[in-house]
Amino acid sequence: MLVVSGLEVVYHQVVKVLKGPSLQVPEGEIVTLLGPNGAGKTTLLRALSGLLNVHDGAITKGQITWKGQDLTKLGADEIVRLGISQVLEGRRILADLTVAENLRAGAYSNRADGLASTFYERFPILGQRRDQKAGYLSGGEQQMLAIARALMARPKVLLLDEPSLGLAPKIVQEVADLIREIHQDGCTVLLVEQNARLALGLASYGYVMETGKIVLDGNSEDLLEDKDMQEFYLGGAHEEGAFRNVKHYRRRKRWLA
Ligand SMILES: Nc1ncnc2c1ncn2[C@@H]1O[C@H](COP(=O)(O)OP(=O)(O)OP(=O)(O)O)[C@@H](O)[C@H]1O
Ligand SMILES: [Mg+2]
Repeated sequence: MLVVSGLEVVYHQVVKVLKGPSLQVPEGEIVTLLGPNGAGKTTLLRALSGLLNVHDGAITKGQITWKGQDLTKLGADEIVRLGISQVLEGRRILADLTVAENLRAGAYSNRADGLASTFYERFPILGQRRDQKAGYLSGGEQQMLAIARALMARPKVLLLDEPSLGLAPKIVQEVADLIREIHQDGCTVLLVEQNARLALGLASYGYVMETGKIVLDGNSEDLLEDKDMQEFYLGGAHEEGAFRNVKHYRRRKRWLA
């Protein structure tokens, strides 16, 4: 189980962005973290993967543990070695490197090639383009590559930051299928998403974070039925894809009242 308890994160020693959220990701489950722009979702993932220092951020209170082991003071490389890998927001691939080089960069050297070939089978397009610059791939292909790259480290826990962002609906379905497969292979997943319907369809449990605090959590089925969820995060009358707008304009809601 991955456990976050009472986490406080401060940027530049002054800006407190996480105000004590607690959440749990049981082994073998998909759990989703939802919330509006600026809520602190990416910050929480950075804390989990040890990347806060890159952004002049630090954990000032609380604890993160994985299977009982304290991660709070570990560096990013130690956390990856424990089996926790993050796919960064905005499909950060190394655009000037080839597809093959990107995959190799995600792996521990010696077993890279065999694992890469399984991704080339799963995604023939990556195989066909293995020697081309990754920057020439389409957005959807880059997202697949970003996920594949994280999987090269054979993680036990995968942290995904808005993997559906900016992708066409058909490609979003492919990403969803991939997340399902990763889960079926036994990987634990913490999924940060703006597409609440998609995320709750994949996850067994969901948390909603606003301004650095968890304001709602529950089983996915219950959240899908929840009136506030429907009004603010599931679109209701809004079309799928309008979630960003809902996030922007309607974030002051009764959960905080
Ligand atoms: N390096 C930084 N220095 C200062 N403030 C930061 C830094 N990174 C993020 N923040 C601030 O922290 C808050 C939370 O940002 P974060 O990126 O974690 O939100 P988010 O929930 O991922 O939002 P989005 O849905 O837009 O990705 C925001 O107000 C943001 O401006
Ligand atoms: Mg974010």
